[in-house]
Amino acid sequence: MNECIKSVHYQQETSKERCSVERFGSVHAEKIQEFHKSFPEYSVTPLADLKNLADELGVASIHVKDESYRFGLNAFKVLGGSYCIGNYIANRLGKDISELPYEKITSDDVKKQLGKLTFVTATDGNHGRGIAWTANRLNQESVVYMPKGSAPERLKNIQALGADASITELNYDDAVRYANDMAEKNGWIMVQDTAWDGYEEIPGWIMEGYTTMAYEAWKQLEGEKPTHVFLQAGVGAMSGAIAGFFADLYPGEEKPIITIVEPNKADCIYQTAEANDGKLHAVNGEMNTIMAGLACGEPCTIGWQVLHDYADNFVSMPDYVAAKGMRVLGNPLGNDPKVVSGESGASTLGFVAEVLQNESLEWLRKQLKLDKNSRILCFSTEGDTDKDNYRKIVWDGAYPSF
Ligand SMILES: Cc1ncc(COP(=O)(O)O)c(C=O)c1O
Repeated sequence: MNECIKSVHYQQETSKERCSVERFGSVHAEKIQEFHKSFPEYSVTPLADLKNLADELGVASIHVKDESYRFGLNAFKVLGGSYCIGNYIANRLGKDISELPYEKITSDDVKKQLGKLTFVTATDGNHGRGIAWTANRLNQESVVYMPKGSAPERLKNIQALGADASITELNYDDAVRYANDMAEKNGWIMVQDTAWDGYEEIPGWIMEGYTTMAYEAWKQLEGEKPTHVFLQAGVGAMSGAIAGFFADLYPGEEKPIITIVEPNKADCIYQTAEANDGKLHAVNGEMNTIMAGLACGEPCTIGWQVLHDYADNFVSMPDYVAAKGMRVLGNPLGNDPKVVSGESGASTLGFVAEVLQNESLEWLRKQLKLDKNSRILCFSTEGDTDKDNYRKIVWDGAYPSF
């Protein structure tokens, strides 16, 4: 396959009929944040203001939300896992989630009412760690299936939280199907971070859970409205939720330009956007990209609906771009804060740096409407969740092939 930077542009007419994004909007996000706030590990993750980098790249500002600080778990994913398990339990008990903050949901009383539950999922690592962590806190069980080639460090981190976790011989999408079969067979609860026809309630809650990071970023920006939001996609659940948050916050013409970024090897959202034929388009096979969190071949139905209606650009790019993002964030200019960002986490900032620096990408700067007035917001969705590979890339300069 030809590895290069490709982009599809959607002309988003504000007059056209679009799906509602209220569930991802700031009013709901505030309530969701209340739930997350009740956890003892909760703190607002930093929003790095990269002033020197913005000067260097010729734009007005660059902010990067640093999710390596999230709950001590090195990635944003626990926001979705914890909120969905919270909602699941609230539903089982006939309560609203606002009645079940951390202290109550972890109480013996709730445990007695629920009995033993087993949550099962398939994951490249970050989502599974969030599920295992939440199940552990609630004194419940979890089973985690990881795709072939998953990093041993990610497996160990999940096992350390008490989950029955293993690396399978399957790719991500087949591991999801396997987890679902096992859930049906054993009466376990499938908590998957992607939706498909007939399975949308739990992933919908997971997506809502992600909005806490957008809500925090909005507050941290103190009224500075981003002109551009860059979001990385695996199945497109996270990007759908965060795009929905900003589309709700800044309706119509006010909406920032939203750009979705994926690896060439797993660009199912890009391919679905390019075809634009009302169907979801899958990528098959091993999807061997360094961006492990984005190595997903089948779009999330709910995520795609939002992205179709509100995202402006869909990018597919080679691994070296994400590697560049890791180096740029890990080696800040002047007194800019350092962000330790993993392969999937750094993909968007890497893309921004490449587009702004590479002479031959003038066409893309134009398509994205990037100029000296641009105020850019990226989400570094993970830290160095695979430390071996982090060092191979940042220390030894792996993935320079362009
Ligand atoms: C670090 C990281 N960033 C981004 C994503 C993408 O999220 P989604 O699969 O919802 O598109 C993932 C998914 O696992 C991830 O682990």
